[in-house]
Amino acid sequence: MTILVAGGSVVSPAGVTRADVLVDGETIAAVLAPGSVALGADLGADADRVIDATGKYVLPGAVDCHTHMELPFGGTFASDTFETGTRAAAWGGTTTIVDFAVQRHGERVQDGLAAWHAKADGQCAVDYAFHQIIGGVDDESLAAMDELVAEGITSVKLFMAYPGVFLSDDGQILRAMQTAARNGAMIMMHAENGTAIDVLVAQALTRGDTAPVWHGLTRPWQTEAEATARAITLAELTGAPLYIVHMAAKQAAAEVAAARDAGQNVFGETCPQYLYLSLEEQLAAPGFEGAKWVCSTPLRARAEGHQEALWSYLRTNDLSVVSTDHCPFCFKEQKELGVGDFSKIPNGIGSVEHRLDLIYQGVVDGRISLERWVELCAATPARMFGLYPRKGVVAVGSDADLVVYDPAGHTSIGVDKTHHMNMDYSAWEGFEVDGHVDTVLSRGTVLIEDGKYLGRKGHGRYLRRGLSQYLV
Ligand code: URP
Ligand code: ZN
Ligand code: ZN
Repeated sequence: MTILVAGGSVVSPAGVTRADVLVDGETIAAVLAPGSVALGADLGADADRVIDATGKYVLPGAVDCHTHMELPFGGTFASDTFETGTRAAAWGGTTTIVDFAVQRHGERVQDGLAAWHAKADGQCAVDYAFHQIIGGVDDESLAAMDELVAEGITSVKLFMAYPGVFLSDDGQILRAMQTAARNGAMIMMHAENGTAIDVLVAQALTRGDTAPVWHGLTRPWQTEAEATARAITLAELTGAPLYIVHMAAKQAAAEVAAARDAGQNVFGETCPQYLYLSLEEQLAAPGFEGAKWVCSTPLRARAEGHQEALWSYLRTNDLSVVSTDHCPFCFKEQKELGVGDFSKIPNGIGSVEHRLDLIYQGVVDGRISLERWVELCAATPARMFGLYPRKGVVAVGSDADLVVYDPAGHTSIGVDKTHHMNMDYSAWEGFEVDGHVDTVLSRGTVLIEDGKYLGRKGHGRYLRRGLSQYLV
């Protein structure tokens, strides 16, 4: 099967070029820039089908390197399965996800990983890979890190938050970083001072401050900035590469910027919720409504200027990636577990479907360039986690994961509108954004076209990854 995506403008971090893209089977066979128009026309005549991309952008399928399908959390599970979550991803132009397999204290890493394979195998609409959460750093799990790298799981997530559940103390972090410095794995860090936060949470509950907004007020920016600085220091000491996940506080991002300026292999990721939403407007919504936006790190106060600063850090490459940290919970029965006690609200927001549109709005609003949009949402996450150039670029030999994006289109977000995630609400309800994901191909198969989902579960394949391609 050959498909010619004709007449569009191909966007890469390096620029925007008018070009036709020829897909042969699962890969890109040719990218025909102006000057080879005659050749393109000939190919069009020969291709089994032509997708007209005139007036539209042609992008590499987006790569969301931070999702949590079916994550067990707070006595419940993230509400998207690999089937529903990857289908929603496809609707939004994301053709690769990297999800987090979980190992808890006392469990074998290999067992946690096997459980994640069992959840995802045969279920996914788009290609997928795994990071490994290590919730119990000990001799055995450290030894398993070498096996993980050999198996293509080249990044591990550690937590400085959630004492008694996932938290690693500084000694454990140091040991994991020493291992990563040796075997090349990327240390992904949830950087919040969980021990201090737990004290603030207990004090708030004792005072009777139980509403959702207290989730944010008991995790002030200092707890994020301190943990970020500590993680950077331990990475410097050990020589480990470090990637700070879901960054929300401008002071924490400043720590990453300073480490990068000093030449350290430190990277930062943020998410759409930290760019658009805030503690005052969402988390402090009346009654229990704010529970919809309980996530960690928390939404931060707009009055403190975090959102604007994060956009700026994205522009200057001090922050390198926008992922979603997709971790959806329904309002009814799941978020409601925390009625009367904010600390029992399961942490997470669902956005896997909306990242490309939401960040394109940053282009429309003049915050980032078109090229940077593709870099943040596709090229850099692919490179960061060893998937490039198979993913993240429109180039000969790459997987034919393509998005035809209509800049003149419009997307209305909400449960009854463009919402295919397994949630009974949308954290983005009422958002009206410019641009629209028109057509989505995954390895040469059309998944989305004319407002219809044409994919199937099981199309998505597991991807073994190489080491991060930002390290020397
Ligand atoms: O609130 C969040 N972020 N839930 C998902 C788990 C995590 O820490 O990333
Ligand atoms: Zn986290
Ligand atoms: Zn996460």
